[in-house]
Amino acid sequence: MPLTPPAPIETPRLVVRQITEADLPGLMAVNGDDTVTQFLPYATWRSIDDATAWYQRITGIQATGNAVQFVILSRADASVVGACLLFNFNEGSARAELGYVLGQAQWGRGLAREAVGALVGTAFGAMGVRRLEAEVNPLNQPSVRLLQSLGFTREGLLRQRWVGKGKTYDVELHGLLSAEWQPAR
Ligand SMILES: CC(C)(COP(=O)(O)OP(=O)(O)OC[C@H]1O[C@@H](n2cnc3c(N)ncnc32)[C@H](O)[C@@H]1OP(=O)(O)O)[C@@H](O)C(=O)NCCC(=O)NCCS
Repeated sequence: MPLTPPAPIETPRLVVRQITEADLPGLMAVNGDDTVTQFLPYATWRSIDDATAWYQRITGIQATGNAVQFVILSRADASVVGACLLFNFNEGSARAELGYVLGQAQWGRGLAREAVGALVGTAFGAMGVRRLEAEVNPLNQPSVRLLQSLGFTREGLLRQRWVGKGKTYDVELHGLLSAEWQPAR
């Protein structure tokens, strides 16, 4: 069975729902910023054409049933504040990888904790995932702190795992099991 997109997830300040093409202009402000994309596996968006190319790639990956791409919206004014993703779903092991990004103007307000925490809860609940993984560059301390606050365990360092943006880099592998998940943490 493929990874099935859930109904929109509501949190006190946010809505997390599957992305549509209409969300791309709002996501430009998030992914059109070199500081935001420095640790992400895609180039900074310079135009709406870059956004459309990314969306087409994501649509193809979602069609395999192994990923769901979400957008994160403010409940106050429905503006786009970021995005998050479940990908590399392995049905037999009920395992998936987690990714996330917020616009720089939104950092440091606990919004990633709120949105990604809600997605983790839904992944372990309605979506039937048993284990979540995240790969993080150790230099990306805000991301490491976010995973720790959600209860992920740092399981190891994968040396020189990736080459991207002209650099070879290590990643920490972080993992969380559904049996360990504490929503109120
Ligand atoms: C990773 C990323 C999403 C983290 O965003 P963030 O805003 O730092 O994360 P949180 O929402 O959890 O905010 C936590 C910070 O807000 C502060 N905060 C303020 N108000 C808060 C509240 N009401 N609740 C919780 N935290 C709050 C916390 O003190 C915390 O600061 P600390 O990490 O210094 O202790 C963000 O840095 C980002 O988008 N980076 C670029 C994309 C990226 O690298 N993605 C990950 C690839 S692996």
